[in-house]
Amino acid sequence: MEDTEGVALRGSLTPLISQIERERGVDLSQYRESYVERRLGTRLRALGLTTYREYCAYLASAPNEYARLLDALTVNVTDFFRDPPVWDIIRGEVIPSILAEKAAVGHHAVRAWSAGCATGEEPYSMVMAFLAARNPKPERLLLSVTATDLDPIALKTAARAEYDIAKLDHIPLAERSRFVTADERHFRISPEVTERVRFRTLDLFADEPPLALDLILCRNVFIYFTREQQERVTGVFHRALAKGGYLVLGRTEKMSTIVGKSFEAVSSRERIYRKP
Ligand SMILES: C[S@@+](CC[C@H](N)C(=O)[O-])C[C@H]1O[C@@H](n2cnc3c(N)ncnc32)[C@H](O)[C@@H]1O
Repeated sequence: MEDTEGVALRGSLTPLISQIERERGVDLSQYRESYVERRLGTRLRALGLTTYREYCAYLASAPNEYARLLDALTVNVTDFFRDPPVWDIIRGEVIPSILAEKAAVGHHAVRAWSAGCATGEEPYSMVMAFLAARNPKPERLLLSVTATDLDPIALKTAARAEYDIAKLDHIPLAERSRFVTADERHFRISPEVTERVRFRTLDLFADEPPLALDLILCRNVFIYFTREQQERVTGVFHRALAKGGYLVLGRTEKMSTIVGKSFEAVSSRERIYRKP
């Protein structure tokens, strides 16, 4: 892209970012500007538009375009321990607090849900993080993770628990040596991890959620939903959590304002909340 053209487009990017945040609650300022520009560029070109202002107007007249835009930004992307700062808090605060409260009442069963788990990297990361905690010993940890998605093909990949070797780098060394067996091109997640995860198809708008949960991860899923839909699904999560249970949203996703009042923030920056 020509420099002059780049400057003209950047100048008008702010109203577009505000519009997307207002309408979808997606905070694109979290992404690198060059990345957003590149991805938006593909949509503008596909539509034959040349300015962000035209694109704002197009989004207002054709709201279906939001889905295409957000697809262009995120696709079905997922990874092991995606967004490390979030996992630092999950490992350093959330998991220890859940386990300590279980220990205090002498009851070690932990129930978690990865909602919108795509190809399974997120729920497997969650189990590895729990098993890596010092207490209780892995054999005493009764952890059951329900992992759900709308997409049955993604879930098939997830259940296979076999991944391209290129993804291995994202798993921290300690977990890699403990929970993974690899050959030259692929690696497999060990049964100690996989046996704690149950996959099933679930539409967040239509199907009954698992209940009495200690932890829900629903990251990079709200981007597909309108504000009203986000509100509804946040209500579902509130109902599905036990008292004191945690909810983790994606880094670009804002807690909805109405239902948000019934959660307290653990880390607003990393979008981690707790049901009081
Ligand atoms: C970008 S992936 C997120 C994967 C993972 N949570 C992460 O953050 O890395 C989004 C997933 O949400 C799923 N999804 C979209 N709408 C859904 C719905 N209504 N109910 C359940 N899952 C949905 C998609 O199929 C997709 O696999």
